[in-house]
Amino acid sequence: MKKVLLIEAMGSAEDLLDAGRELGVQIVVATHREIYESYAPAVKEKVSGVVFTDFSDPERALKELAEYARAEGVEGVVGCWEFLTPVAARLAAELGLPGNDPERADGCRNKRVMAQLFEEHRVPAPRTVLAQDCDAAAAGLAASGFTYPVVVKPAEQAGSWGVSVIQGPDELPEAFAAAQAWEYESPHGFPLDTTVLIQEYVGGVEYSVESVVFEGRITPLTVVQKFTTDGVFRAEIGQTVPAALSEADTATLYGTTVAAIRALGITNGVAHTELKLLPEGGAKIIEVGARLPGDRVPELIRLARGVDEARAFVQVALGIEPELTPRTDRAAAIRFFVPPRAGRFRSIDGVVRSPQVHRIAVYPQPDDEVRGPGDNDGRVGYVMLTAATPQKVNRAADAAIANLTIELE
Ligand SMILES: Nc1ncnc2c1ncn2[C@@H]1O[C@H](COP(=O)(O)OP(=O)(O)OP(=O)(O)O)[C@@H](O)[C@H]1O
Ligand SMILES: [Mg+2]
Repeated sequence: MKKVLLIEAMGSAEDLLDAGRELGVQIVVATHREIYESYAPAVKEKVSGVVFTDFSDPERALKELAEYARAEGVEGVVGCWEFLTPVAARLAAELGLPGNDPERADGCRNKRVMAQLFEEHRVPAPRTVLAQDCDAAAAGLAASGFTYPVVVKPAEQAGSWGVSVIQGPDELPEAFAAAQAWEYESPHGFPLDTTVLIQEYVGGVEYSVESVVFEGRITPLTVVQKFTTDGVFRAEIGQTVPAALSEADTATLYGTTVAAIRALGITNGVAHTELKLLPEGGAKIIEVGARLPGDRVPELIRLARGVDEARAFVQVALGIEPELTPRTDRAAAIRFFVPPRAGRFRSIDGVVRSPQVHRIAVYPQPDDEVRGPGDNDGRVGYVMLTAATPQKVNRAADAAIANLTIELE
């Protein structure tokens, strides 16, 4: 049985573990001992093995994992947790296995390096000023010629943590401090680049494109449409695959995505690209991760297209031509349930079970404490749907949750 090393079973790891099982490939996870203890039982049950290391010392972790991989005959490496995708690229290169360019792999997690690579390779992306302290940010911003609003964000964070859109210079100090609040990654504890990026604000509608890359050949699988709440917190409340877009707009997004993936040296693996379609035409990249999408999007792609991105990722890691031909032409959507406030959970009522509903999931048990809205951890469940077209699945999703009530105590 072939063996693949998975660099941390976080993010969409279950999709990879399921794909490994279906392909008859053993997936061994590299993690920290205490993080392994906190894995969900379903994840623990699916892993074929585990190797403990300490990613807070990246050089030592790389050495240990290379020794393990050679001794155990590991034939492929996949990264899942975005922060560790450069480790996956370096390990694959060290072992002579398929992976991404180790020299540019930091550009897939560090937005400072990413912005520099985009500029070098003329990829359409927001112009960016870098600063280590707030005075330098103010000076850089004044010299840049950017008009407000501008975006202030950390070089290395995720989940929109520390990302602010500011309307004027008086908001800069607070936004800057928010963007520089983390010195270490959690939960592995390796140091983060505390450079702050100030970017011109890109208008338009945001999408993601999910792609598979095999031996440098880039295949965009689909455009995903993201639904977010308005207001101070922009929690993601749903996704639809594929986005309801014209062929021309889809081609624009794919073209820009391909340029970004090339610039970052993603040559064997997957890419999650966030980008905006501009009102004036064209698109600009917000960011790219060398990882699977979250929010159960791999399952939505399976339902809508009959293509399994996680399976393709494992195949690519093993040097096998991935199966990317669409087998269906439908649409799929997910809408998350988010309670209006924190409290003690009672029940979820009013979800309409139409024929389009594929699954309804409720996370908490009665009496569990739940968080309010604010970020993605506030979710208490979801409804997943399929239909013939994106328009139909969006209508079915709206109807399914129109009378949703979340009872709290
Ligand atoms: N330059 C920009 N112009 C317009 N909007 C932006 C810009 N940069 C970021 N955003 C908005 O902020 C969101 C979060 O930014 P970004 O993706 O860079 O950070 P992140 O922490 O990696 O977030 P996440 O993990 O939520 O995707 C983006 O999805 C986008 O909506
Ligand atoms: Mg992002």
